[in-house]
Amino acid sequence: MYLVTGAGGQLGGALCEEFDEDGVVCLTRAEWDVELPPPAALGAPDVILHAAAWTNVDGAEDDPQGAAAVNVGGTANVAALGVPLVVYSTDYVFDGQKSEPYLESDGPNPRSAYGRTKLHGEAAAGEQAWIIRSSWLFGPTGNNFVRTMLRLGEERDEVAVVDDQRGSPTYVGHLAAATRQVLLLPYGVYHVAAAGDVTWAGFAEAIFEEAGLPTRVRRISTAELGRPAPRPEYSVLRSEKGAPELPHWREGLRETIAAIRAGTATE
Ligand SMILES: NC(=O)c1ccc[n+]([C@@H]2O[C@H](COP(=O)([O-])OP(=O)(O)OC[C@H]3O[C@@H](n4cnc5c(N)ncnc54)[C@H](OP(=O)(O)O)[C@@H]3O)[C@@H](O)[C@H]2O)c1
Repeated sequence: MYLVTGAGGQLGGALCEEFDEDGVVCLTRAEWDVELPPPAALGAPDVILHAAAWTNVDGAEDDPQGAAAVNVGGTANVAALGVPLVVYSTDYVFDGQKSEPYLESDGPNPRSAYGRTKLHGEAAAGEQAWIIRSSWLFGPTGNNFVRTMLRLGEERDEVAVVDDQRGSPTYVGHLAAATRQVLLLPYGVYHVAAAGDVTWAGFAEAIFEEAGLPTRVRRISTAELGRPAPRPEYSVLRSEKGAPELPHWREGLRETIAAIRAGTATE
């Protein structure tokens, strides 16, 4: 039996769908706040898919302890169960100074409080863990860039989007499916992100194109946007350890827009 934490999130929801037929217990934050010990009636999971996290990157700059309580303390609480677990981590553990894809053997050097808590969370996962680093997650539910752009695109003629951060936007459905394959590999760190790479501005243009919206994208710099948390300029992830290869981000984008259109997405 699988157990998913953070089941109310976008990846947690996709994992619950992916593992539905295998037998999965899905716990939202209301059902298990991972800052606390697990609830008594947890069952006996064989594998935990730990998708609960503090994901507010800018908010973590103001409250790094709050972010650490979830991303480090919460992961330690999950690992304390002594069950093999998958911990999802991020491209934001890297500083973004490279100009070619980050491999598992590259040294992390997070620039943000969020990135630091996620890196410490990797260490808190213990020995029986698969650490899956992915990037720029999106899907038909929850808070993500695709949904934000679709909303803004309905409201405005033009949207300003940063053009000096490059990464691989990854569809949560593809990441959930690839998790199955990672479970066949030895414990360790794996980079699992969509094929292809793009800037946020290029991604926004693709979103409007796929959605048939006439909205224009004005390309701006990270400095112009002025967000509190620094982000890597370049954070494309690739695996040198045989991690599963994911479809191109544009395929995930098409699936996401189709799911939203079909009304299959829930909040
Ligand atoms: N989003 C990205 O671009 C991205 C990129 C790379 C890696 N990741 C990693 O991938 C994983 C999944 O991210 P996501 O995009 O699915 O995030 P998400 O949609 O924000 O989901 C995270 C879930 O965790 C829950 N949560 C927060 N604090 C909790 C706590 N103390 N106990 C239990 N649940 C808690 C949240 O509940 P509330 O909504 O109630 O707070 C939310 O349902 C995370 O580990 C994240 O760091 C994300």
